[in-house]
Amino acid sequence: MTHYFKTIILLSLACLTTASTFGEDEDTPLAKEMSAMNTAYRSLSKAFRSGPNPEQRAEYVTQVEIILEHAKASVELVPALANSLAPAAKTNMRADYTAAMQKSIQTLEQLLAALEAEDYAAATDHLVQLKKQKSAGHQRFQED
Ligand code: HEM
Repeated sequence: MTHYFKTIILLSLACLTTASTFGEDEDTPLAKEMSAMNTAYRSLSKAFRSGPNPEQRAEYVTQVEIILEHAKASVELVPALANSLAPAAKTNMRADYTAAMQKSIQTLEQLLAALEAEDYAAATDHLVQLKKQKSAGHQRFQED
């Protein structure tokens, strides 16, 4: 009898482990790229909110380079939301998403150029654009 109970308990535990492994919300490759650019973006935004400090230009450049690298890695990926759509709608969403991400890459390149030219007014404008693109991108392509 004791042996029988042990078997039941072990089987139940095995089921629970399997369920939690498969039930967990795994991060998508795109979510991983997004998370990887988030820290640099937040630091940069914070710095510019209190007025950019020319002495920290090198740090800003590094932060933009990190964001840019992950934005480039994101272009070919597919938003999880697109995977839940019918084929035609999925194709459309992928095209719209790719175009939006390419636009952000362009903005990041302009931001980098402005920082390299020590043009902080232009850099601020590009960062404002990036923030808008980020909000619009999340509203359009991110699952609730
Ligand atoms: C500097 C700019 C951006 C930052 C810092 C950023 C940050 C993030 C973060 C933190 C997440 C959540 C990741 C998670 O679930 O763990 C996310 C998700 C997402 N972002 Fe961004 N994002 C940016 C720009 C964009 C742009 C421009 C687009 C679209 C063109 C976009 C599309 C998405 C999508 C679709 C998801 C959901 C992930 C998925 O579907 O797999 N993001 N982003």
